[in-house]
Amino acid sequence: MSTQLREIIEGLSQEQKTISPKFFYDERGSRLFDKITELPEYYLTDAELEIMQNNIDEMAALIGKTASLIEFGSGSSLKTRILLENLADLAAYVPVDISEEHLFSSARQIRAEFPGIDVRPVVADFTRPFALPSPTIMPIKNVVYFPGSTIGNFKHETAMDLLRVMHDEAGDGGALLIGVDLQKDPDIIDSAYNDSAGVTAEFNLNMLRHLNKSYDANFDLDAFEHSATYDEDEGRVVIELVSQADQTFEIGNKEFAMTDGETILTEYSHKYTLEGFAQMASEAGFRVEKVWTDASGLFSVQYCIRN
Ligand code: AVJ
Repeated sequence: MSTQLREIIEGLSQEQKTISPKFFYDERGSRLFDKITELPEYYLTDAELEIMQNNIDEMAALIGKTASLIEFGSGSSLKTRILLENLADLAAYVPVDISEEHLFSSARQIRAEFPGIDVRPVVADFTRPFALPSPTIMPIKNVVYFPGSTIGNFKHETAMDLLRVMHDEAGDGGALLIGVDLQKDPDIIDSAYNDSAGVTAEFNLNMLRHLNKSYDANFDLDAFEHSATYDEDEGRVVIELVSQADQTFEIGNKEFAMTDGETILTEYSHKYTLEGFAQMASEAGFRVEKVWTDASGLFSVQYCIRN
């Protein structure tokens, strides 16, 4: 049995059935996520892009010359391109992702667009320490880039572990440039995860389709509904699939039962206060040097220097 299937079965065997958000992203799931980023209600991508465009000079000055930019994730986004266009003689660009196929195809694109940049993809699970490649040019500092508020997917303790891995990878004199979504009017958050076109619902349900296709499961997609609710006290959106009946399903020759109304937790999306994130950064050994926000104060990009 593959480790991935074992992980899925383990999650479904818990009291609160859970499937990791990484299983959203098969090809159809990635396309649906791209569609989410274009929705009028999904403010995150526009706000982060606005921040990058308006503050790129200041970001480039903080990062300095001859840095190695280490992106946690495969790096196919427009935000990455803005950085690559504006950083002076990077020593290297190092995208890190567990999906080799996705990583190498995006690395090929980046090489074609930026022939002057030494692109050194690393296939690794970035939640654990990994070895950095040795670029031809010795970097003056490592800057870890983690856009998109992907940090929000992780529960507090796991987010702390991840920040500590970033701290290790940044090394002496290094830094972290990170996109962090902020707490705000709950209605704005609610709409972003319950869009009127139903794309987020489709994205959530696609996880079951993915498991049916790739992990020999037999979920009845019509027997589940999308749910996303913002828990203001916890500062996070809880995204679930709600069973619409008493039912059973199989995966990896294991049978599971669900009652009407029981849920499978598919994702958390944490929202932070500036103080809350600064506290986490500090516990991981960083100090927040600079915070940029969009004009409406919805989202932040933060430059954190390693202590
Ligand atoms: C990719 C984790 C940043 O939390 O907003 C979007 C994923 N899920 N709509 C987010 C997501 C539902 C997204 N992140």
